[in-house]
Amino acid sequence: MLLQGKVGLVTGGGDGIGRATALTFANDGAKVAVADIRLDAAEETVAIIRDVGGEAIAIEADVSEESAVKSMVEATVAHFGRLDCACNNAAGGGGFRAIPEVEEEHWDHCHNITLKGVWLCLKYEIPAMLETGAGAIVNIASLSGVRGEALQSPYSAAKGGVIALTRTAAAENAQQGIRVNAVNPGGILTNALANYFEKVPGAKEHTAGVHAMRRLGKPEEIADAVAYLCSDRASFITGHSLNVDGGVMVNPHTL
Ligand SMILES: NC(=O)c1ccc[n+]([C@@H]2O[C@H](COP(=O)([O-])OP(=O)(O)OC[C@H]3O[C@@H](n4cnc5c(N)ncnc54)[C@H](O)[C@@H]3O)[C@@H](O)[C@H]2O)c1
Repeated sequence: MLLQGKVGLVTGGGDGIGRATALTFANDGAKVAVADIRLDAAEETVAIIRDVGGEAIAIEADVSEESAVKSMVEATVAHFGRLDCACNNAAGGGGFRAIPEVEEEHWDHCHNITLKGVWLCLKYEIPAMLETGAGAIVNIASLSGVRGEALQSPYSAAKGGVIALTRTAAAENAQQGIRVNAVNPGGILTNALANYFEKVPGAKEHTAGVHAMRRLGKPEEIADAVAYLCSDRASFITGHSLNVDGGVMVNPHTL
């Protein structure tokens, strides 16, 4: 029960890593606001939490819209009275194209959700946390933002931005009792990735093979890292970006 008595907010909580994080927050004792651009998906997550006796609300919010993000944080505080932890997880607008083939519209769409969305969440979460003088935020970045990724320039640049934004937010708020960290997932078997693997023969095995553990991760394995970083057990950790990647960043081959 790492988060007993706390109030958490998860964006993109209707599926994948966001849903697993919302469930883990609830299992660890937090009340949870589950936000998603798809209200029905957020409501499904809430129903799962309530089935096991947890407390949760669903909020419809597109993280790329300032007014929606403001309302999302206000609705969380109005319902639960405070905000202690937040996981800024929603991202979007990926796709695979070489840099000359990327259209401006595609770049902007990806950055509006993936980078601006995290900044907007920080903009409204931080003042809500300052009300109680404490809080912890975890932004979901990516290994793509650490090492770059061929054919994913908008996404990898946006995720690199999320890591820099995480450090900046940590520096600005360390003395106010708010910690801000990032998690960089490796390949995590979400529904979205499973759908992609169905369409591309051999892609699942290839992706698993780049991990030293030779397997994909589970959404719950990211959620556990997020819950730890949001908890008081991580009280001296801020500005960090943690790879949770089954060893993608270590070379599993001998020369
Ligand atoms: N799955 C992976 O292998 C992997 C690897 C590295 C990083 N990540 C990162 O983890 C996070 C979650 O990925 P996932 O695989 O669980 O994704 P997913 O597609 O399974 O779920 C994303 C959720 O976000 C919601 N969403 C999309 N756009 C939104 C918006 N504008 N506002 C609010 N909600 C929105 C979707 O409706 C969906 O419920 C993302 O930040 C992603 O970049 C995932």
